[in-house]
Amino acid sequence: MIGARDPEKTELREWLSGEGAGIEAGTFAQTAAHGELLALAVLGTAAEQAIGDAGTDNFSGKVVIDATNPLDFSGGFPPKLAISGEDSLGERVQRALPDAKVVKAFNTIGNPYFVDPSFRDGKPTMLIAGDDEDAKRTVGDVLADFGWPDPFDIGGIEGARELEAICIAWVKIGGARGAWDHGFKLLVG
Ligand SMILES: NC(=O)c1ccc[n+]([C@@H]2O[C@H](COP(=O)([O-])OP(=O)(O)OC[C@H]3O[C@@H](n4cnc5c(N)ncnc54)[C@H](OP(=O)(O)O)[C@@H]3O)[C@@H](O)[C@H]2O)c1
Repeated sequence: MIGARDPEKTELREWLSGEGAGIEAGTFAQTAAHGELLALAVLGTAAEQAIGDAGTDNFSGKVVIDATNPLDFSGGFPPKLAISGEDSLGERVQRALPDAKVVKAFNTIGNPYFVDPSFRDGKPTMLIAGDDEDAKRTVGDVLADFGWPDPFDIGGIEGARELEAICIAWVKIGGARGAWDHGFKLLVG
């Protein structure tokens, strides 16, 4: 199920009648209540608003994949982080949802590569962060299903500080290359 502020909006209805066939649309609250595993993928600067709209109780006890980046485009391109230093959006999401298990993931790669990432130079590395080990195992299972067999867990949700900064590097590289078909890979040994 996919949530939107206006589940009847034309662009969403068109997508549901084509590529999104079989998926239901609802308000953020209906969608959060429906899901066993939730993905937060909204405009970063509106994430806390969206969580409020969805109703924090609807997240209780659930794993929440947080794909958001707090991008601030007010100064033009490239964006800056709207939250940085000793805080991150991932941590704010976890604080807003104390009864949920937030795992930062998917925020360091472009959405065409969320499923079955395929690059000329191999698969990139999905970096994840979160406080709950079981939740990270659940997200690891989702990632494996999505074609990401070896995610790297960088630790607690405070790791969102680095993962969100990596998004800025990813955007700058895209701007410099004039293309968005890149990802980061961890090389060891
Ligand atoms: N696009 C990518 O390749 C990519 C990759 C990795 C991570 N991300 C991150 O994923 C998130 C979503 O990105 P996106 O590309 O889909 O575009 P976006 O424009 O950042 O987000 C669109 C979503 O945000 C919601 N939204 C916008 N303004 C809102 C508000 N004032 N209150 C509540 N909800 C609001 C929209 O809801 P409505 O449907 O109601 O308008 C829609 O669900 C972002 O945080 C982005 O940084 C994106």
